[in-house]
Amino acid sequence: MVDTNCGVVYQGPGEVTVEDLDFPKLELAEQNGRRLQHGVILKVLATNICGSDQHMVRGRTTAPAGLTLGHEITGEVIETGRDVEFIKNGDLVSVPFNIACGRCRNCKERHTGVCENVNRERPGAAYGYVDMGGWHGGQARYAVVPYADFNLLKFPADRDTVMAKLPDLAMLSDILPTGYHGAYTAGVTTGSTVYVAGAGPVGLACATACLLLGAAVVIVGDMNEQRLAQARGFGCETIDLSQHADVGEQIEQILGVPEVDAAVDCVGFEARGHGPNGGEQPAVVLNTLMDITRAAGRVGVPGLYVTGDPGASDENARVGQLGLKLGLGWAKSESLTTGQCPVMSYNRQLMMAILHDRVHVARNVNATVIPLDQAPQGYAEFDRGAARKYVLDPHGLVGAAA
Ligand SMILES: NC(=O)c1ccc[n+]([C@@H]2O[C@H](COP(=O)([O-])OP(=O)(O)OC[C@H]3O[C@@H](n4cnc5c(N)ncnc54)[C@H](O)[C@@H]3O)[C@@H](O)[C@H]2O)c1
Ligand SMILES: [Zn+2]
Ligand SMILES: [Zn+2]
Repeated sequence: MVDTNCGVVYQGPGEVTVEDLDFPKLELAEQNGRRLQHGVILKVLATNICGSDQHMVRGRTTAPAGLTLGHEITGEVIETGRDVEFIKNGDLVSVPFNIACGRCRNCKERHTGVCENVNRERPGAAYGYVDMGGWHGGQARYAVVPYADFNLLKFPADRDTVMAKLPDLAMLSDILPTGYHGAYTAGVTTGSTVYVAGAGPVGLACATACLLLGAAVVIVGDMNEQRLAQARGFGCETIDLSQHADVGEQIEQILGVPEVDAAVDCVGFEARGHGPNGGEQPAVVLNTLMDITRAAGRVGVPGLYVTGDPGASDENARVGQLGLKLGLGWAKSESLTTGQCPVMSYNRQLMMAILHDRVHVARNVNATVIPLDQAPQGYAEFDRGAARKYVLDPHGLVGAAA
């Protein structure tokens, strides 16, 4: 019996709706002029709302109205294309948000965030995202995953275990690997002191990853007190940036020195200035991190920076050109790692850490399961700064398992 499909559609700044969508078909189906024999159809079990979606929904990107949203997908394979050899119907899988062909130079080097073959405009693609190749979004009941043998991570556990851990496993499609990538590329290891800018889901996932990597002290900065309380709830120190403009001074109060070994930007280009009167300042996080990271230290930058921002407050920022204090970072021999997280480099190990109870990311980010048709409310509450990571449950199965 063929079910019907529906999903979340961007209607314009501040508005998303849930609309009927075509049921995906593999036979003869095309996306991006590409036949999908290497793809599968998933029944979507969980699909999360992300801060990256909010940049689009706030009208801060060039996303066109009508775009189907959603790049954080976990599901069950219900149909496999002719060229899919190893993934089978019934497999429960996590989908890396990056779409990658597995055949190009970058994929071979595991830079799957910048695959050369899946986006005509630039390297790198994702489901349901502006400038990311035009692939359909996954905040839906059903979704198509291309190059399925390469992209999918199959859970090596029975259905009951997977369903019980689904709120954690759902974070493998993006924020846990992304937070981990930020920490890892910043050099976080046993005994590190770390500053994480941003206590949204990515910042909280990054703080979780820092602790998993053995950091001695993780300091999280944000101006959202509820989100900072969430960070304190699992052992982080916090800095309330609505009260304190000088991050170095606050770090000194905690560590005795005004600097850290490693720092991670989990905010991106919509960053707000520090202190009681801070308006939007797109370079403030990058400049702060270069300032408070030790000489020769590393800075991870998962926070998103765009090439076009129609809502920017100045002409330069409209084209993604920011007032960076690069001289400061250069003088300190610091390194910065930017870009989409190559999810596949981390998701298997993080899955094992979840399955064996070494990491509790759903608890730390306050994963909150809601039905798909409540997605518009989820977007609105998340936009108001709720200390939650919303997990859409299109078939009512996650809620039932919990
Ligand atoms: N690189 C990747 O692969 C990747 C993947 C997922 C998300 N992202 C990006 O990561 C960023 C965070 O995602 P999220 O879902 O947590 O978003 P979010 O919007 O929920 O969280 C951002 C947080 O930053 C805080 N903030 C604003 N200015 C700040 C400042 N100057 N210092 C510290 N905190 C500040 C906000 O109050 C908010 O709590 C977004 O830019 C998102 O697009 C990147
Ligand atoms: Zn995301
Ligand atoms: Zn590729």
